Amino acid sequence: EKGGFDHFMLKEIHEQPKAYRDTMLGRINEDGKGVHFTDLNLTKEQIKNIRNIQIVACGTAYHAGLVGRNIIESLAKIPVETDVASEYRYRSPIIAKDTLVIVVSQSGETADTLAALREAQANGAHVIAVTNVVGSSIARDANDVIATLAGPEIAVASTKAYTSQLIAFYLLGLYMAEIRGTKTPEEIAHILAAMDSLPEQVEQVLTQAPIIKEYAEHIAQHKHLFFIGRGVDYAVVQEGSLKLKEISYIHSEAYAAGELKHGTLALIEEGIPVIALATQEDVLEKTLSNIKEVKARGAEVMVVSYEERREELMKSVDKVLSIPRTLPLLTPALSVVVLQLLAYYASLALEHDVDKPRNLAKSVTVE
Ligand code: M6R
Repeated sequence: EKGGFDHFMLKEIHEQPKAYRDTMLGRINEDGKGVHFTDLNLTKEQIKNIRNIQIVACGTAYHAGLVGRNIIESLAKIPVETDVASEYRYRSPIIAKDTLVIVVSQSGETADTLAALREAQANGAHVIAVTNVVGSSIARDANDVIATLAGPEIAVASTKAYTSQLIAFYLLGLYMAEIRGTKTPEEIAHILAAMDSLPEQVEQVLTQAPIIKEYAEHIAQHKHLFFIGRGVDYAVVQEGSLKLKEISYIHSEAYAAGELKHGTLALIEEGIPVIALATQEDVLEKTLSNIKEVKARGAEVMVVSYEERREELMKSVDKVLSIPRTLPLLTPALSVVVLQLLAYYASLALEHDVDKPRNLAKSVTVE
């Protein structure tokens, strides 16, 4: 049942190339130049009139929604807020007639997400559910469903569901961009061509497992560590930090790289590991200066960036892991895989129950 893998989590990490292909399949035009969502009830007219979007979810699905915000804002130029469902539902969110609400849930059964969906509908919003289970409560109640085709996810730690949610956001963002005219057909075709390479590029990331394992065994000796990043890298490190906590029980915190000096820098001491994602080259200099701040205080820094940057980065950090070249907006679909493997191997090194971490359930149906 684990298909030759030691754990469901590792199997599911390896299923991501297929999950990417399956989630894209049937939604990209035959010529590869556009996106269609034939089954959406939301009309093109409604899409043109959307004033703002609220993405609501819990845990890992919330982290996918954080990337979703960057994706939709940058492609379709619609203002987006992402919120955790247990906060959103109780804070009387301001939902206008032209607000679109997108709930994200692997299981489709998360109690707070379902309640947030109902709250949004009670306020007159159209709700799209991005879910992996089409027969779920959330799918049933939503006005529209975008199915992620990741296949059943068994491990409590979500991996392939998260990355398929990212793919769903890329497709939706491109679809809205096309309708609203915020990206040219050439730009859309260019992004789709880059997306087409993602499954193969994930395979390349997976071949680095032995180096990631070695580093994971090293961090497994630490009690605390930090993750930093900017832009989509910040969203991805939040997911990486949750994954690590969830299955390795190592305490970690994820920070926007520029926020460290506003307090948390006080916690940086000799030898503490800091994992930096530095894939966003427009802010690379800024991230590098944050890396230098922690290095100067004795941190041991590992950076995830592009192979071509290795030499330059090695002047200021202790270790570099790389991802294949892709467009800046698409890097989360590759960089997160490094962090998933890191969490997996750290948990393994500490001999924890990788697939069934303590205190947690796969589906959280209590509020
Ligand atoms: O089924 P859902 O996507 O609604 O679940 C939401 C969270 O409970 C879930 O993502 C949780 O954070 C995972 N265990 C993280 O790996």
